[in-house]
Amino acid sequence: MKLLEIKNLGKSFDGVEVLKDISISVNRGEVLGIIGPSGSGKSTLLRCATGLEQADKGVISYEGSYGLVFQNFNLFPHYSVMKNITDAPIKVQKREKAEVYKEARELLKKMGLSDREKAYPFQLSGGQKQRVSIARALAMNPDILFFDEPTSALDPELTGEILKVIKELANENMTMVIVTHEMSFAQNVADHIIFMEDGYILEEGSPEEVFGSSNERMKMFLGKFCE
Ligand SMILES: Nc1ncnc2c1ncn2[C@@H]1O[C@H](COP(=O)(O)OP(=O)(O)OP(=O)(O)O)[C@@H](O)[C@H]1O
Ligand SMILES: [Mg+2]
Repeated sequence: MKLLEIKNLGKSFDGVEVLKDISISVNRGEVLGIIGPSGSGKSTLLRCATGLEQADKGVISYEGSYGLVFQNFNLFPHYSVMKNITDAPIKVQKREKAEVYKEARELLKKMGLSDREKAYPFQLSGGQKQRVSIARALAMNPDILFFDEPTSALDPELTGEILKVIKELANENMTMVIVTHEMSFAQNVADHIIFMEDGYILEEGSPEEVFGSSNERMKMFLGKFCE
């Protein structure tokens, strides 16, 4: 079943087209990896898909709800870990407080953060902050979760920690769209990969197809990560 379908999406900034006729679809349980050089439009695609940016052309249709995990965590600095996670489910979704807290504690346990529920973001490492922001997104029970370079602000050790969490979510069949510069991670976790360049989808397919591509541009891009 399709959870997300984007057809012929176009977006310009100040007359410059940064997304050109992008079409993608994501099925339930699928992990879509988005790779490509800096400036190719990956974040803009995610921002349009999640309503943070208004597309100029095209159609975006969802079956269900979505959540978003940012590169720089975007936690509320003056809220505790617990409040960061529970605030939207209680205030926006109007869910029962006791139930939301119970679920939040389960999520914190899953993220290895049971002892940090009273901490504030400034008291956490980057990896911990990112795990809180993943817990916060999951607390809304989204059908589909978007990640925009979830590890790019982290050192290699903390990166591994976050990639492990995302891999576990994939094993639980969470539907995800992940923009990443971690090529081996994309290769391992994604069911389908799109390679963007200059606002276009230059190549797409299974990890085997994309990483085995004979396209010269694709090979050059991937080669840079293997050096
Ligand atoms: N709000 C904006 N106003 C003007 N131009 C923008 C805006 N947001 C993005 N752009 C431009 O759109 C293009 C695509 O940017 P985008 O952030 O989507 O790239 P990206 O693939 O996510 O790159 P990176 O890997 O560096 O994160 C870039 O040329 C960028 O300068
Ligand atoms: Mg980006």
